[in-house]
Amino acid sequence: MSSSLTELIQRAEELRNLLNKAGHAYYVLDAPFMEDSIYDRLYRELLDLEAQQPILITPDSPSQRIGEKAEKGFESTKHRIPLLSLDNAFNLEELKNWYSKLQKLVKQRQKNNVESSHWEMVGELKIDGNALALSYSNGVLVKAATRGDGSQGEEITANVRTITSVPLSLQINNPPQWLEVRGEAFLPNQQFSAINKDREIKGENLFANPRNACAGTLRQLDPKVVASRHLDFFAYSIHLPEKWTAQEKDFCTPTEQWQALEFLKAVGFKVNPNTELLKNFYEVQTFFSKWETQRQTLAYATDGVVIKLNNFDLQQKAGFTQKAPRWAIALKYPAAEAPSKLVKITYQVGRTGAVTPVAEFQPISLAGTSVSRATLHNADRLAAIDLHDGDTIIIRKAGEIIPEVVRVLQELRPANAKKVQLPEHCPECQSKLIRAKNAAATRCINTSCPAILRGALSHWVSKEAMNVEGLGKKLIEQLVRRGLVKSIANLYELDISLLISLERMGPKSAENLIAALSESKKQPWHKQLYGLGIHHIGETNAKALANAFPNVSELAATICKSPELIQPIYGIGSEIIQSLEQWFSNPSNQELIRHLKQLGFSLATTKEERTINSIQKNALSNQIKGKTFVLTGTLPTLSRNQAKSLIEREGGKVTSSVSTNTEYVVAGEQTGRKLKKAIELGITIINESELKKLLSLENISNM
Ligand code: IVH
Repeated sequence: MSSSLTELIQRAEELRNLLNKAGHAYYVLDAPFMEDSIYDRLYRELLDLEAQQPILITPDSPSQRIGEKAEKGFESTKHRIPLLSLDNAFNLEELKNWYSKLQKLVKQRQKNNVESSHWEMVGELKIDGNALALSYSNGVLVKAATRGDGSQGEEITANVRTITSVPLSLQINNPPQWLEVRGEAFLPNQQFSAINKDREIKGENLFANPRNACAGTLRQLDPKVVASRHLDFFAYSIHLPEKWTAQEKDFCTPTEQWQALEFLKAVGFKVNPNTELLKNFYEVQTFFSKWETQRQTLAYATDGVVIKLNNFDLQQKAGFTQKAPRWAIALKYPAAEAPSKLVKITYQVGRTGAVTPVAEFQPISLAGTSVSRATLHNADRLAAIDLHDGDTIIIRKAGEIIPEVVRVLQELRPANAKKVQLPEHCPECQSKLIRAKNAAATRCINTSCPAILRGALSHWVSKEAMNVEGLGKKLIEQLVRRGLVKSIANLYELDISLLISLERMGPKSAENLIAALSESKKQPWHKQLYGLGIHHIGETNAKALANAFPNVSELAATICKSPELIQPIYGIGSEIIQSLEQWFSNPSNQELIRHLKQLGFSLATTKEERTINSIQKNALSNQIKGKTFVLTGTLPTLSRNQAKSLIEREGGKVTSSVSTNTEYVVAGEQTGRKLKKAIELGITIINESELKKLLSLENISNM
C-alpha cells in the first residue's frame, strides 16, 4: 500500500468518525456542536475522497445513508430474536389485575422473597409508529426489518439507513459480535402534515394518520423518497449474546430495562426522553394519568403507555404467553371517537380543482378540542361509508390530528334519507366536474374558476413560496370576488388607494402589503417555481428542477425539446414531466410567465446563488470537465444516451474504448471486456449513483 493511500484511508476514517459524531449530536441528542457550513465542507471532502478512491467507502460512511432503489421489492427475512407483541389493558382496573397477577406469579416462581426495590417498573410511551428490528454485526448495522408476523419480516435495510437517528455503527470500541435492537420508527406530526399537503397538491390519496404514512414510507422502493420524509426512531429494547460482557468503563452489561435504555443511549440511539423509573403502583398510575393529557403536546403520536418490569431476572421468572411477555403491558388510551349528527355537506374546491366533500356536524368534544367539521376525502370515501342526509356519524381524530368520519350508524338513519353524492357541477363556477380514469379526485378543470384562482393566490403567497405577509384568505376572497385580481401577476399591480378602499384594510396595512409584495420578488428561483403551483411540483421537485435549470426559459425549452434530459434528475418521473409539458404549453401560463418577468421577477437563480452553485459545481465538474469517460454495461436508471448527454453538458467526453486517457469507467450491470481493461489499467471505476453525484444530480449534502 502506498503511503499516500494509507494517508487517504486515515483521513477518510477521521472524517467519517467526526461526521458521524456530529450527526449523532444533531439528530439524536438535539445538541449540535458543529456549524452546518463546516459539516458541509467536511462532508464534501469525504465525498471527494470517496469519489477518487471508491475503496474508501465503508458501509457506515454518512455518504451511504441513501442507497439504490429496490427494483424487485423487499425480501422476507427471519428475525434472530422474534418480535413479540404486548397484551393490552384499557383502564386502571385491568392494569391493577395485571400487576397483582404478575406479582403472584413471580413470587411463586422465586424461591426467596423479592426485595421491594426489584418491583420497580419502567414507564415508557407507546409510540404509534411501526416496530423495527435492527441487526448489528460487530457494531455495524447490517440489517433492518419490519415486524411482519413476529418471526419473519421484510428486509428494508436501505430505507432504514436513511433514518438519521439510526446509527450506522455503534459508539463502542468492543462491540458484541451481534446485537439486536428493537424500537419504533415514526413520522413526526409536522412531517405528516407536510407530506399530506404535498400529496394533496399532487392529487394523491392522503394518508389517514402518521402511522399509516410511516408504514407506507418504510415500504417505498426508493430510499431517496424515504430520506425526504424524515422518519425518526426511538429504540426501546436490546438483545445481546448471552456470554457477552461490556469491557469499557462507560458500559455495563444491562441487567435491567433501565440499564438497557442507558446502554442504547450510550451506543448512539435515541431513547424517548419521557421514560420514567416507577417505584410502586401508585407511580405507575400517576405516569399513566399524566400522559393521558400531556401526550397531546408531543410532536409525535402515541396511543398509550407501556409498563415493563425493570429487573431482567424477574422478567425471566414471569416469562411469556404465546405472543406477549407477561412482564410488560400496554395501557391504551381510549380512541378519541364520538358520535354526532350530520348537518350538511360542503364541497371545497382546492387549488388544483380537486373537490373535497366536508361533513359539517353538531359540535362534539374530541381529545380535548371541539370539532364540527371533518373531511370525507373524495367520492370513493363517500360511497364506502354510504353516507345519507341526516345520518348519525362516528367521528375520530386519526393520529390525534385530523378529524375524520369513520362510519355511519345506519340504525339511526332517518326514513327516506337521500344518499350523499358528489355534485356533477363545480359548486363555485358551475362547470362540469371531471374524474379522470384511475384518479382519486374529482376536479373542476375551468382555469378561471374563482376557487382555483383563490387557491393559486394563497399558494403563491404562502410561507413556503413567496412568503407574503398580510395577504390572508379573507383578503384574497375579496380581491377575487370583486374581479380585482385575475392572476398571480395582478397582485403586483394593486395600488395603494385601491387596497385602502377594501374592507378591513387601513393605510398602514396596505402600505405593508405593498412592501411585502415587492420584497417577495427577491425570493429564490426554486420558491418562485414552487409558487406557480404546477401539478406534482412540490417543494422537493421544485428544488431539484431549480438546481438543474438556472432559469425558466431553459426549463421550458428543455421540457419542450428534450424531456428525456429531465428524467435523470432525482424524483422527476414521467408523470411530472407530463404535467410540466401541459403547464408550459398552456397559453395562459405562458402569458403569466411573460407578465411576471415584466414585473421584475427573475424566475432564475440569483447572482449569489449562481456563485455558490458554480463554486460547488466547479469543485465537482473539475472532475468532469475535460475528462474522458467510458460507459459500460446497463445502468440502472440512465440510458446510454442520457448519461452521455449529461456528461457532455458538464464538459466531459465520452469515448467507446478504454485507454490510458480514460479517467472514469462508469460500470452498470453485465459488463465485460471494458471493465476488465479498466481494472488492468488502474482506472477509477464508478457506478451510476457515483456518476450522478459527480454530475450533482443528487442532493448529496442531504444526509
Ligand atoms: S415493547 C416484548 N415498548 O407496540 C416487547 N413496544 O403493541 C414488545 N411499541 O409491536 C414491545 N412503543 O411496535 C414496546 N415503548 C415501547 C413501545 C412499543 C411502541 C409498539 C411496538 C409493538 C407494539 C405492541
